[in-house]
Amino acid sequence: MERITVQTTPIEGQKPGTSGLRKKTNVFMALHFLENFVQAIFTGIGGVAGKTLVLGGDGRYFNDRAAQVILRMAAAQDCAKIIVGRDALMSTPAASNMIRIRKTDGGIIMSASHNPGGPKEDFGVKFNTPNGGPAPEEVTNRIFEATKVIESYDIMQAQDVDLSQIGETSLGDMAIEVVDPVADYAALMEKLFDFGAIAALFESGFRIRFDAMHAITGPYAKSILEDRLGAPAGSVVNAVPSPDFGGGHPDPNPIWAKDLMDIMYGADAPDFGAASDGDGDRNMIVGKSAYVTPSDSLALLAANAHLAPGYSEGLAGVARSMPTSGAVDRVAAKRGLDCYETPTGWKFFGNLLDAGRATLCGEESAGTGSDHVREKDGLWAVLLWLNILAKTGKSVQQMLDDHWAEFGRNYYSRHDYEGVDNAAAEGLMDALRARFSTLPGQSFAGRTVASADEFSYDDPVDGSHSAGQGIRIGFEGGGRVVFRLSGTGTVGATLRVYLEDLCEDSAEMHKDPQEALADIIAAADAIAGIRERTGRDGPDVRT
Ligand code: G1P
Ligand code: ZN
Repeated sequence: MERITVQTTPIEGQKPGTSGLRKKTNVFMALHFLENFVQAIFTGIGGVAGKTLVLGGDGRYFNDRAAQVILRMAAAQDCAKIIVGRDALMSTPAASNMIRIRKTDGGIIMSASHNPGGPKEDFGVKFNTPNGGPAPEEVTNRIFEATKVIESYDIMQAQDVDLSQIGETSLGDMAIEVVDPVADYAALMEKLFDFGAIAALFESGFRIRFDAMHAITGPYAKSILEDRLGAPAGSVVNAVPSPDFGGGHPDPNPIWAKDLMDIMYGADAPDFGAASDGDGDRNMIVGKSAYVTPSDSLALLAANAHLAPGYSEGLAGVARSMPTSGAVDRVAAKRGLDCYETPTGWKFFGNLLDAGRATLCGEESAGTGSDHVREKDGLWAVLLWLNILAKTGKSVQQMLDDHWAEFGRNYYSRHDYEGVDNAAAEGLMDALRARFSTLPGQSFAGRTVASADEFSYDDPVDGSHSAGQGIRIGFEGGGRVVFRLSGTGTVGATLRVYLEDLCEDSAEMHKDPQEALADIIAAADAIAGIRERTGRDGPDVRT
């Protein structure tokens, strides 16, 4: 075994975002690319000498080989130890937990989240800090700077490490501990939730369908739901992680989890349906003919979390990303909880969780979580729902009905316009910005604008300021539209239009959201000229 220094040249414009760097797999596989980015991470965190890191990924194409490269580079740079999931697998929330319980110097997660996988699809690498959360901007900036000046990297010349067996091994002087990726995570879930009550629910004949979408939560869900909680074998479907996610798009929403939606809205629907994404941090919840929006899910979990042992003492506070609906705010107001509104992206919750100011947090994009880890957590949300259903004895629809009756219903939908010409998208946003002072008082499609501004955030914990976080238009009567350009799209610009309206009339609470939001949708187009500026007849995706 020999340590060699490989000469390389900087990689251009590879700016990691809040969730690491995502690129086409063949870009990562090209000569030196993965190595360059991993070296930039190592440099950005001040080197790995003497450190202990966690390593795992969502099992997508190239996961196994990328893991070997990372191990060889870490060993060549005097890393003390790597704790790696068997077969280099680990879900994002489980990796966050592992970093925390083993008090490591952070971890590297190989994933492109809900993006498809395969030789022609996406791969990604992200670094999480010792608190278990995504690297903050100062760290990703240092990584980015390192990508621009890299000239060489050190790597071991060695054969692959056998990662198929749990136990201790080594590479040069670096210790490698291959761990069961599920065990510690499952133990954490068992501490947070009333497994006895959930097992009794299954015992009583309650049926669940968990669609792992051929991604990483398969082994986790099988172990927890079927083996430990006694859900009938076969309750977890598409449970074997595959390098291309079965050719699918591992994104848990009604569009990409359509099979599950069809079953849940069909004649013989089980009582509860759920799905999660590629790396296991997102979730979708659906009852019999009852899809739960992520915004409603957050609000309902906040209102009922005390039914689970891990939250029996109540919540310190709740937090939601700005575009997420105000449903959770209504729970917070009634229950006297602090409620924080943060920019889009999980990293903003980290400070609030670390400081003990918030216990639950969530985003409209199917991410929900708590202070048990520093990432959103798909299976956690499913288990909290099950715990609540077991304790209340209600169906998902009953839970929603009772929630809306108590707090009102925030109708909600997000419309995405993908691959929009960058200049057209920026132009739309700029034109809105220029009109903030003139919009209030004007009516569009029968709705009168009450306020217009651009969201910025002052972090109450570290005082940092984040500007330009989305344009908000508030309407009289509680409606709202938010315009935001995606930070994760790969082709052109993705314009996200978040639509919301408050309904407090119990006779009006069971409409189709697109119908209930018709005037807000029309007002959004009238205000921003979406059709005209993007040249599109309608959104590509409505969730
Ligand atoms: C999207 C979601 C956002 C989430 C992020 C990473 O970002 O909207 O809520 O935190 O993915 O999973 P966007 O493309 O909107 O910038
Ligand atoms: Zn994800």
